[in-house]
Amino acid sequence: MPRKGHLSQSELYEYIARQYDDFQHVFDRINKERRYLNYGYTTSPDQSYEDRQEALCLKVFELAQLEKKHIIVDVGFGSGEQDFLLARKYSFQKLIGYNIAPAQVRYARERSTREGLSDLLDFREGKAEELPGLGAESVDRMLAIECAFYFDRPRFYERAAQVLRRNGLLVLADITFSDRLAFVTRRANNLGRVSHLSRNRELWQIGFDTVSLQSIARQTRPGAAMTVREILKGMIRRKDKGLTGNERSTWLKMALNTQVVVSGLLTGLIRYDLIVLRKR
Ligand SMILES: C[S@@+](CC[C@H](N)C(=O)[O-])C[C@H]1O[C@@H](n2cnc3c(N)ncnc32)[C@H](O)[C@@H]1O
Repeated sequence: MPRKGHLSQSELYEYIARQYDDFQHVFDRINKERRYLNYGYTTSPDQSYEDRQEALCLKVFELAQLEKKHIIVDVGFGSGEQDFLLARKYSFQKLIGYNIAPAQVRYARERSTREGLSDLLDFREGKAEELPGLGAESVDRMLAIECAFYFDRPRFYERAAQVLRRNGLLVLADITFSDRLAFVTRRANNLGRVSHLSRNRELWQIGFDTVSLQSIARQTRPGAAMTVREILKGMIRRKDKGLTGNERSTWLKMALNTQVVVSGLLTGLIRYDLIVLRKR
């Protein structure tokens, strides 16, 4: 198995998809109720892990200024939990989700059918950089919650600008390196995708105006630290329920990467921002 930094582009997509399908399989086995996969937005130490995760999604929804007539695209939707939340809280015309992890897409689709929401929530397997099936200027709002660091950003910003209508909004909850770590992002392709703020801004400014950019490192760090603890606790609890070797290594890698994010958020070397962009 080549190292992640040396994967070809197609191998990188497969690697990421497999990782999220592994998470999905474990969620299926333990029948996890709320299947968010983000670090959350913490406002009180008493909040449960899932309440923090839900709060991050609600922040993004609020910034998106949603209206009844809107066509919304959600890229990197995980298990779709955030979109079921959206459907409970807001009225909109239709949401189209894109994700590259087949088991997550299957789960979200089956759940939308089961809950009678399949006309409203259309979950598709596809890359955020491609958004297959979407026409030019056909979308009012695009959401990207804790996932854009996986994308080929130049292609993603370009495609998002194509499909959004004029004045349409792209709202991101996004993790990037601070500009001080720009040199790191020039090395391996996966870190290059995380990128750093100035570079990302240069890219999105080709098609978008920046409406707002708010650092939420302080509100995301407690949930990130909790993620490390939850993963390790879960692995110990599930010891005898048989995690496969692959699943075990996927969860451990996630715990390790998240610990790096926790330290980065603490030192300011990693950023977590809520970003609202308006299509020009
Ligand atoms: C950290 S999870 C976030 C999930 C969800 N947004 C949440 O907050 O719970 C990242 C998600 O992005 C998806 N993803 C990664 N690269 C992608 C790409 N190029 N296009 C679409 N989805 C992608 C992964 O499969 C995963 O579901």
